[in-house]
Amino acid sequence: MANSRITVPVLRKKKAEGEKITVLTAYDYPFAKLIDEAGMDVILVGDTLGIVVQGEESTLPVTMDQMLYHTQMVTRAAKHALVVADMPFMSYQSSVEETIKNAGRFVQEGRAAAVKFEGGAAVVDRVEALSRYDIPVMAHIGLTPQSVHRMGGYKVQGRESEMAKQLLNDAKSLESAGAFSIVLEGIPNTLAAEITNALEIPTIGIGAGPHCDGQVLVMHDLLGLFTRFHPKFVRRYADLTAIASDAFTRYKSDVLSGKFPTEEEGYE
Ligand code: KIV
Repeated sequence: MANSRITVPVLRKKKAEGEKITVLTAYDYPFAKLIDEAGMDVILVGDTLGIVVQGEESTLPVTMDQMLYHTQMVTRAAKHALVVADMPFMSYQSSVEETIKNAGRFVQEGRAAAVKFEGGAAVVDRVEALSRYDIPVMAHIGLTPQSVHRMGGYKVQGRESEMAKQLLNDAKSLESAGAFSIVLEGIPNTLAAEITNALEIPTIGIGAGPHCDGQVLVMHDLLGLFTRFHPKFVRRYADLTAIASDAFTRYKSDVLSGKFPTEEEGYE
């Protein structure tokens, strides 16, 4: 693994040189450490923690204080990756001032290097304001989970030409406003390719096909730790549910049968 710290300019250079950018979510110290040691470019402390850690149905109940708590755990572990903190629902929607205050907390208290929030034209003024104060912003368009009620579920966006045009325009406006990268979630592969080619900043895809500048997955999906549903775009690289479940069952059985602990596993 490279020792050097990944920074915003490094990510831009990777796009310019055609090198893919690797992004994964993490929510706590031990997993963030493993991900960092694997050499991931970016660790996103996603508000998906509402679903995969807290067991909620959506990301909407997640609060600023919860996100800060998890961001601190992750930044303590990350020595190489750039850590991006996801701004939770209602931490940036009400005003530019609230956005600056809450993004500042992620940098100052959470030790994050950047923040992410969802939205197109509606959040361009927030991106501009944070860029003015040197807080780097990762934008996020397409299937934006905080808009679940407007979308009527987690549905692919931008299949109709009107919406596709709007997403392309949103991406260009977010770039002009100063976003350093942009997550494209749940949009057709061809639209993701078109947006990627139209921008100088890197696009990070999730459910957006192979033509983005980088990819992000939710860690619990990749490890097979979240099994409530399995979106088409998720590739499971491990089945930690089976491994953990087997370990718990064997431990219980050993305690019940007296096989654990042995004399040797105690003190003289
Ligand atoms: O919250 C999150 O984990 C995200 C990624 C899915 C991009 O926003």
